[in-house]
Amino acid sequence: QKKKTILEIQKMKADGERIAVLTCYDYPTTVIMDRCGIDVILVGDSVGVVVAGYDNTLPVTMEEMLYHTKAVMRARPQALVVADMPFLSYQTDLPTARRNAGLLVKEGGAAAVKLEGGENVAPVISALVDMDIPVMAHIGLTPQSLHRMGGFKVQGKSEEQAEKLLKDARAVEAAGAFSVVLEGIPMALAQRITAELSIPTIGIGAGPHCDGQVLVIHDILGLCEKYSPKFVKRYAELTPIIAEAVSSYIGDVKEGAFPEERHGFK
Ligand code: KIV
Ligand code: NA
Repeated sequence: QKKKTILEIQKMKADGERIAVLTCYDYPTTVIMDRCGIDVILVGDSVGVVVAGYDNTLPVTMEEMLYHTKAVMRARPQALVVADMPFLSYQTDLPTARRNAGLLVKEGGAAAVKLEGGENVAPVISALVDMDIPVMAHIGLTPQSLHRMGGFKVQGKSEEQAEKLLKDARAVEAAGAFSVVLEGIPMALAQRITAELSIPTIGIGAGPHCDGQVLVIHDILGLCEKYSPKFVKRYAELTPIIAEAVSSYIGDVKEGAFPEERHGFK
């Protein structure tokens, strides 16, 4: 089977086939989720929180995004790989945005990039699409806007905010985005945006009416103990499994039960 393209992802909306997206940041996890048939792999800047231990995504650098994108690409996934543009890699000026998006494709090997914002980033989306880099937009609760939002809060609850988000959705589609993430918005609004746009909407904390869904891999595996938001569904509880393995190992080493002679070399 060959690699998924943005055209195939877009056709899924037309065909009414739902799009399954997960974040991924490393080689072995990519091998597993690609074997399962994931449609899109997002190398999210959430890596900064779930892997690097930052409090939020703002400190994530281009170097970090390139490192993780390369690790994912070494698994040669069939899934479409989208790399997040980190904070400050696209907000200052168009040449900087072009160069950084270009690096995620050229050095990272991603097939598309994602960036946060609506009407305000439409010129950036246009500039990248103009250099043939497909862009996934991301509106609603945009984690890089943490300080403006005053926390991670559902967006678009008032009629005025909802109208603004509709405008944002139209603006990113008009700018040429091939799809758009709808994060942390009321499900009725997500349904309305999904019906109005011709590009696929990928929801997270946006209810069941989007064209696809994205979640953070650490969240669905139960590896984020600190915080598990309402919109996450845990499909496994890996924390106690890892803890048990580590404890058994420690016990074996302390008791002299591991290593045995059969683990050694003659
Ligand atoms: O960085 C990320 O993981 C994301 C998704 C949750 C949409 O942007
Ligand atoms: Na992100």
